[in-house]
This record gives sequence, C-alpha cells and structure tokens, in this order.
Amino acid sequence: MTTAFDPIKLGDAELKNRIAMAPMTRSRAYGPEQSPTPLMAEYYAQRAGAGLIITEGTQPSVIGQGYPATPGLHNRTQTAAWRQVTDTVHERGGVIFAQLMHTGRVAHPANYAEPLTPVAPSAVRAQGQVFTPGGLRDLVQPRELTPTEITRTIDDFAAAAHNAIEAGFDGVEIHGANGYLLQQFLSSNANARTDEWGGSAANRIRFTVEVTKAVTAAIGASRTGLRISPANPFNDIAEDDPATLYPLLVDALNPLGLAYLHVMETMAPELTHVLRSAWKGVFLLNPATPGSATGPGQLQLIEDGAADVLTFGSRFIANPDLPHRLATGAPLADTDMTKAYGGDAAGYTDYPAL
Ligand SMILES: Cc1cc2nc3c(=O)[nH]c(=O)nc-3n(C[C@H](O)[C@H](O)[C@H](O)COP(=O)(O)O)c2cc1C
Repeated sequence: MTTAFDPIKLGDAELKNRIAMAPMTRSRAYGPEQSPTPLMAEYYAQRAGAGLIITEGTQPSVIGQGYPATPGLHNRTQTAAWRQVTDTVHERGGVIFAQLMHTGRVAHPANYAEPLTPVAPSAVRAQGQVFTPGGLRDLVQPRELTPTEITRTIDDFAAAAHNAIEAGFDGVEIHGANGYLLQQFLSSNANARTDEWGGSAANRIRFTVEVTKAVTAAIGASRTGLRISPANPFNDIAEDDPATLYPLLVDALNPLGLAYLHVMETMAPELTHVLRSAWKGVFLLNPATPGSATGPGQLQLIEDGAADVLTFGSRFIANPDLPHRLATGAPLADTDMTKAYGGDAAGYTDYPAL
C-alpha cells in the first residue's frame, strides 16, 4: 500500500515523500525590486523536509502583483535573488517549484511599483478589500485587457517560467486558483468578453490553456504544474458551470503531459473525484477541511488513492519539520495567523523543529 511517506516521481524530480508545502503568500520580499531575502531563503530551507515546496505566489510582471511585498520573477534582480532560496533548499535535499501568480483584478494601484490600474478579462470590479501599505482598501474597477495585452500576458508567464529555471527552481506551478487572473477568465461572473477569450466554456478555458502551453514551451511540460480551485468563491468568484468547465479543462491539458495538476478543494468535493479520474498524470490535492487546517487526518487520502501527493498549507507555517511530525505522530504547533503576512522573523523563521 502506498503511504504519504513513500517517494514519487514528479516530472523530472524525485520527491522523497508525498507531503508538499502548499503555496503561501508571506509578503516579506523586502529585497531590492521586490526580490527574495536571506530570511526567505532560511524559511524555505527550514521546510526542505517536504517532498515538494511550492513557493508563495510570485508575480510574472509588475501588473501581476496584488499584495504588498510579494516577490517577482520578471527581472534580473529578482531572478538572481531567488538563487539563494533554491540553493539552500537543494543543499538540504529539497525540491522547489515557484508559483506564478497574476492577481488580475484582485489588486490595488497602491501596491504597484509604478502608477497602474489593475487589469482583468473584463472591467468587472470584485467585491472585497485588499491589503495595501496604507491598510485595507476596497478593490478597484479593473481595466479590460486588449487581445494584444492578453498575448503579452501569456508571454510574461513564459518569460517568468524561464527566469524560474535560471534561478534554479525545479519547476513552476501556474496559479489558476483562488479568484486570480486565470480563474477570472474561467468564471462568467468575472469574464464578460464576447471575443474568443470569453463566452462559452471552451473560450473561457482558453487563457489557462494558452498560459500552460506557453510555459511548457518555455521550460518543458515535466517542469510545469497547474493549480485550480473549482467552484471556489474566494475573491468574489461565482462559477456557474464548474462541473462542465473543469473536466473540459482537464481534457485540454491531458495531452500536454504536465508534471502535475494541483486541486485545491473547496466547495465541490464531488468534482475532485471526477478530476482525479480524468487526470492522466500526478494529482496533488489540498483537501477541503472545513474549520481546520489540513493535518494528520488527511494522510489516509494517499492510501485511499484519492491523491498522489497531499499539500499542507498553514500547518507548514508553524511546523517546519511537518513531514517528520506526521510520520512520528508528534504534536503539531499552532500557527499564529496574525504574523502570516509581512513582518520579520517572528512567526516566520522562529518556529522550531522538534
Ligand atoms: C498565509 C496563507 C497564504 C496563502 N497564499 C497562497 C498563495 O500565494 N497561493 C495559493 O495558491 N494559495 C495560497 N494560500 C492557500 C493555501 O495554499 C492552502 O490552499 C490553504 O491554506 C488551505 O490549506 P491548509 O488547510 O492546509 O492550510 C495561502 C494560505 C495561507 C494560510
């Protein structure tokens, strides 16, 4: 029987176990031009016992940034600075993918390094607020991307993926979840376009498919993963057809031979099983665990064959040696969520291993 502590091949990489660290924004990229710092390298290296680390959401362009102090992968300074992270993780035997996150309309002019208006499939404002250096602010009405800009945005993902490999990452995860740009294209409540990028489900999956193809062309399918969150209402998404749209997306992606599909399960657990069966490659699952964080109770999902790799988010914040604790049944430390975003070593690198 396969357990969470068995190794698995993921594209070109060999994972020592099936416990992955889910992507988590920590807003501490205080290096020049929003680049990673030595503190970030220490944070990730402490967690290298994970079979796979997926980094915090990382913008592929200036306009792709939604939150303060999130790192980028779109210029030389950032690319060079990520090397300290990938080197220290590799020295400790870890495998690390960069998550490429373009937040689209979930953004605020106050968070860009230059004066810009957020962009989205359509000029449809999301209800909600976003952190800025000046505190929580209402989301603004985004500007609709032109077809030329859509093509350029796809190119930005490919260029950032290329930079990720240059920076020493083992691969990239494209962020298609949580109401950010890719899911804005997928969802008819955010995508009101009447051209080939909107309307039918086949048109709404086009952006995600084209970004994925461009990234695989840049770095190879075996180093490319995609994260999706079917029916997740986060960031004012209201999908009206997830049961048809996501299987269509999986069918379109299967021939590419990606390293993995990563499903963040929220409101549609029944769809998880459908996608698990339809997906021909390695299946990562961040299971829905209402009212608590993914923990020891979910390890069984590997034995049941519900997933090939499990991803754990918040537990990894307070438990840098989470796989070891899960393997030995050791107690888990509680996460101080008040220190999740921004700040210094407190609540970041000061959680001890056992
Ligand atoms: C502090 C924090 C930051 C997060 N940032 C991201 C992110 O950048 N990209 C992403 O895809 N998910 C992000 N997530 C969601 C997690 O990857 C994960 O899906 C979620 O925490 C649920 O898993 P858990 O119960 O194991 O924590 C974040 C979650 C937390 C707690």
